[in-house]
Amino acid sequence: MFNKKTVEDLDVQGKRVLVRVDFNVPLQDGKVSDDTRIRAALPTIQYLLDHGAAVILTSHLGRPKGGPDPKYSLAPVADHLSELLERPVQFVDELVGEKAAQAAQNLKAGDVLILENTRFHPGETKNDPELARQLASLADLYVNDAFGSAHRAHASTEGVAHHLPAAAGFLMQKEIQYLGQAIADPKRPFVAILGGAKISDKIGVIRNLLEKADQVLIGGGMANTFFKAQGYPTGDSLVEDDSLEIARELVQKGASKLRLPIDVVIANAFDAEAEMKEMPMGPVPDGWRIMDIGPQTVAAFGKSIQGAGTVVWNGPMGVFEFPRFAKGTFGVAEAVASSSATSIIGGGDSVAAINQAGLADRITHISTGGGASLEMLEGIPLPGLVALNDRD
Ligand code: 3PG
Repeated sequence: MFNKKTVEDLDVQGKRVLVRVDFNVPLQDGKVSDDTRIRAALPTIQYLLDHGAAVILTSHLGRPKGGPDPKYSLAPVADHLSELLERPVQFVDELVGEKAAQAAQNLKAGDVLILENTRFHPGETKNDPELARQLASLADLYVNDAFGSAHRAHASTEGVAHHLPAAAGFLMQKEIQYLGQAIADPKRPFVAILGGAKISDKIGVIRNLLEKADQVLIGGGMANTFFKAQGYPTGDSLVEDDSLEIARELVQKGASKLRLPIDVVIANAFDAEAEMKEMPMGPVPDGWRIMDIGPQTVAAFGKSIQGAGTVVWNGPMGVFEFPRFAKGTFGVAEAVASSSATSIIGGGDSVAAINQAGLADRITHISTGGGASLEMLEGIPLPGLVALNDRD
């Protein structure tokens, strides 16, 4: 079902391989504070090194405004990668240009070079053909292992693939296989759990999942908009008034599949120490706001999750950064971890929740992609994947 060439289809011996990775990782005090994405790319890098290639890595970090910004430099990432690989990693403070070309030219088999943040170059996000050509001129082969950036049609993720033999890395392949299978041919029942603050970010995902999944469980702030659309007063809860019409349409369309919380936890302020109470879903009193799903919802959602063949989860069930309002999110995390279903989790917040709960090793696949995994769930082709060579 994965129809793209992979690193294993390339003859990499003695070649320079340009590898786009997603090293968009958090930094704290000049150091990498969560290296999940770097570790996830190691199998591809290690494979290339073991097979006699020289590796040139590119990545974006953060969202600099089209020019160099020291706080988004990849230099600390190069140091961190060097520790993980237990070998030197050369860093060049430009993406293309004389220094980058010279460094690439001097590489020998087994060498690793990392170039500066792709987004310091104004041509990156514009998918500038000249930048794509310059990047391609650094190497003999191109590998895209940046699943987290595959929804971006940028010069380093898409444009460059048109100038070199272009294959997927192992992480890209794994992500596409798990998420693609869940959408195209899931073990049923297929239960999708969607949370997070906003419905407007996920309308396309909800629409697609209402077609593909057997049940769509909704929690988090986005449930509030559905409640208001059904005519409930929602007090001070976060509601997207612009999305009420769409919420009504989705409730109608998904009547048999869409499940909303049956009880909620409310608070009298958006505050970790606010007064709180549980209530069956109904009119939320003035001055109060919904902060989490309630225990009966956790139990009901848990039952569906236990009986599922495939579970996909994106987005927390409540304000889980406040421990007193985290029970819904952690309850769902526990249910997903203890279910025998194939379980797939995407999106920074739900991944953070599963890690905080210490349950990550009981999940079948934790995606390294936020936006990219959502676009896959929405059924949108990813430009960074589409541009790679098809398998013969
Ligand atoms: C992500 O963190 O989801 C990816 O690295 C993409 O980042 P972006 O949204 O800034 O393109």
